[in-house]
This record gives sequence, structure tokens and C-alpha cells, in this order.
Amino acid sequence: MTKRLGVGFIGSGFNARFHIQAWTGVRDADVLGVWSPNHSHAEEACALARKLAVGNARPYKSIGEMVADPAIDAIWLTGPNHARDENVHEIVDVLKAGKGELKGIACEKPLARSVKEAEHITKLIKGVNLPHGYLENQVFAPHVTRGKEIIWARGAALAGRPYLARAAEEHSGPHMPWFWQGSLQGGGVLNDMMCHSAELVRFLLTEPGKGRASLTPVRVTGHIASLKWTLPEYTKRLKQTMGEAVDYARHPAEDFASAMIEFETKDGRRVLGEATTSWSYVGAGLRLSAELLGPEYSMSWNTLESGLKLFFSREVTGKAGEDLVEKQNAEMGLMPVVPEEPAAYGYEAEDRHFTRCFLTGEQPLLTWDDGVEVVKLLMAAYMSAEQGKTVDFPPPGLVEFVPAVAKGTWKP
Ligand SMILES: NC(=O)c1ccc[n+]([C@@H]2O[C@H](COP(=O)([O-])OP(=O)(O)OC[C@H]3O[C@@H](n4cnc5c(N)ncnc54)[C@H](O)[C@@H]3O)[C@@H](O)[C@H]2O)c1
Repeated sequence: MTKRLGVGFIGSGFNARFHIQAWTGVRDADVLGVWSPNHSHAEEACALARKLAVGNARPYKSIGEMVADPAIDAIWLTGPNHARDENVHEIVDVLKAGKGELKGIACEKPLARSVKEAEHITKLIKGVNLPHGYLENQVFAPHVTRGKEIIWARGAALAGRPYLARAAEEHSGPHMPWFWQGSLQGGGVLNDMMCHSAELVRFLLTEPGKGRASLTPVRVTGHIASLKWTLPEYTKRLKQTMGEAVDYARHPAEDFASAMIEFETKDGRRVLGEATTSWSYVGAGLRLSAELLGPEYSMSWNTLESGLKLFFSREVTGKAGEDLVEKQNAEMGLMPVVPEEPAAYGYEAEDRHFTRCFLTGEQPLLTWDDGVEVVKLLMAAYMSAEQGKTVDFPPPGLVEFVPAVAKGTWKP
């Protein structure tokens, strides 16, 4: 490797701050810049990077200025979903004008809000020959990677391949209004969080060292529901906390989704991936979980079983916070704590991986092509849910499809 990677962030929100915290475990790269439409938020994210000594970050006035700066070698795209297209256009325009040189771009999940949008931005990035990585932290989570490694090496090697993977991401609802608005976000919880679980089940079921082509999705059964946030009292509460534009009486989005993805292996066997996501789960906080099962073995992972619990009696009436676990719901009683969340959820290993790939030219484990595949699975799950039946994959009309939730026409 020749030099260190200077990284610039687009977006300075929740996700960018998680990555910046994760950077304490990343070698050979420095967080050198942040651009966000809100300059003071960009300043705050830069101050966090400097405080953690992960880079002498400074806020930029525009995406163009950041991309053109020779100090910036790679972009981490962490803006809201509805800004993907405009952000990518801006980056590509600068590169086409010969004003900047980049070694790579990493984009957060979901890659885009529809297959059409995902394919479009991927084509743009490929048009300027920019190496691309798709950020899916859960397949880098240490418990997941170690669990998969041992299950395949010990269990699958002797007893046969795993046949069922389950994954779930659940919490009590997103922190910003745009997530709740189908048109901006691309859907409800299915689009927001099933991208994680759909990719995780595929990852767990894929033999180590084999690529995406070793498993072909052949059928998808999706289900979506509004369990909580269309109840009148919660619709009211949502409007009060998220603003008038988040009106679930008129334009609801699903807060629960499940999908069964049937994959075919190269030797013609069917294996199953079961994904569940929820914004209506009220536990201690965010819960990521997964299972991998085969003929004589199983693996299970649950981030709320972190090995650390604290107890606070009813006398301890402190203010609400997120210091024990992401999307924390309580501060009293027996509470799990997830120490080092960015590492536990996979951000740290993920950022290390993409840094190395962009510096060496190695092919990343996940590219935007993989991001497009994930969007295809999500849209197929929406199609199945809308049609009330299992769909063969890929279903006709997938590229042009926009979920009713994203169009604001969904009736729970
Ligand atoms: N991997 C994960 O588990 C995970 C977790 C959270 C979010 N995400 C993804 O990361 C992205 C950002 O989510 P978040 O939670 O940080 O949201 P957020 O709302 O907290 O932050 C979004 C940031 O983008 C900035 N922004 C606003 N308009 C913009 C524009 N036009 N162009 C670029 N940036 C703009 C905002 O100022 C803010 O800094 C989303 O795509 C989300 O799906 C991934």
C-alpha cells in the first residue's frame, strides 16, 4: 500500500457519526472531511473525528469542493436515501470535469429506493471507473463472521450445508422524519431495515469463499403490516414528535415486514432465508438477531444478549438517553448494555475492509452490484405483499416497480 486513504463523508447524521466512532479501529485511513447541507452539523461531525483522533477533519462548503480536494481519496456516502441520486450525480460531474481523483466510493444501505434508481446510480459510478463498495455492516459483525466461519468449518463440512438462515432487525422506530415518509425513504421498515436481513441470510447460507452466484434467489414471499403506528394515539404521537409531514392517518408506511426468500444452490437444492424487520418492537433497544441451521448444528446471535447488564431501581429517575444501547427505550430495571456498538454491529470491520480494498485495488466483498441485488429482493418482497402471493424471482416489472407505500397509496 502506498499511502493512507483520506476519507470524506457526505452526510453528518446518525450513521456518519457511527462510522466516525468506528474509525478508531481502522488503520491506514483518516477522516479528513464532511459535507452536509447543515454546516454546523458537519462541523460537529468533524469535531468528533478530531476528538477521537481519527483524522484532522474539516467541513466542506460543497460536495464538489470535497471531491476536488487532492487530500480526499474516497467518499463514504451517508446522506438520506432521497439524496442518493443527486449526491452521485454531483460526484460524477466533478470527476468527469477532471477536477478530482478518487480511489473509491462506499454507499450506505439501501443503495437506492427502487431498482431503477439503484441501477442508474451504479451505471453512473461505473461510467467514471470508480471502485464501489456497498456498506452492509451486519455481514462484518464479529459474532456473525466468527459464527459463520465455525459453523461451515465444523458443522457443514461433516454434516452437510446449512438449509435455513433467519435474521431480524427490530427497534421502536427511526429517529428522523424522512425515514417515516415513504416517498423520501423508499418505503417503510421493509425498505429501511430488511436490506440488512436479506443480505445477512444470503451471506450466512453462502459457502465461505464462494461468490453471490453460488446461490440464486428463485421465489420470494413478503408480508407487510402496520401493527402500531396507525393506531390513533400513535399516529398522533408520531405527528407531534416528527412533524406535520409525517401523517400516518393519510400516508402510512409498514412498521412490520417479513420475507421468505427461497434460494437454489448450484446442485439444485432449495435453502431458505427468513427475514423479519420491525419498527414496532419495544424492548431495551435495537435488537439484531440471526440464526443459521443445518442437519446437525445451529448458530444464534442476539445483540441484546451482550454479556453486560445494569440494574437501576425505581429511585434512579435519570433522563432518557441512548448511552446503553442504540434506540434505547428505558433507563430503569435490568438493562443490557452493548459496549463498543460500532464494532459490535460490524461498522469497524466493514470500514477496515473497504479502506484496504480502495487502497490496494482488491475487489470488495460487497459492491454496488450487490446493493442492486438487495434492492431487487426488497422490491420483490413488496410486490409479493401487495399481490398477496409468492412471486417467482425476478418477477416481471421489477425494474420499474415502486411500492404503494412509497407512492403514498398504501392502505394497511
Ligand atoms: N448501516 C446501518 O445500520 C444504518 C443505520 C442508520 C442509517 N443508515 C443509512 O445511512 C443513511 C443516513 O442515515 P442517518 O441515520 O445518518 O440519517 P440522518 O437523518 O441522521 O442523517 C442524514 C444526514 O444527511 C444530511 N443530508 C440532508 N440532506 C442531504 C443531501 N441532500 N445530501 C446529502 N446529505 C444530506 C443531513 O444533514 C444529515 O447529516 C441512510 O441511507 C440510512 O439508511 C444505515
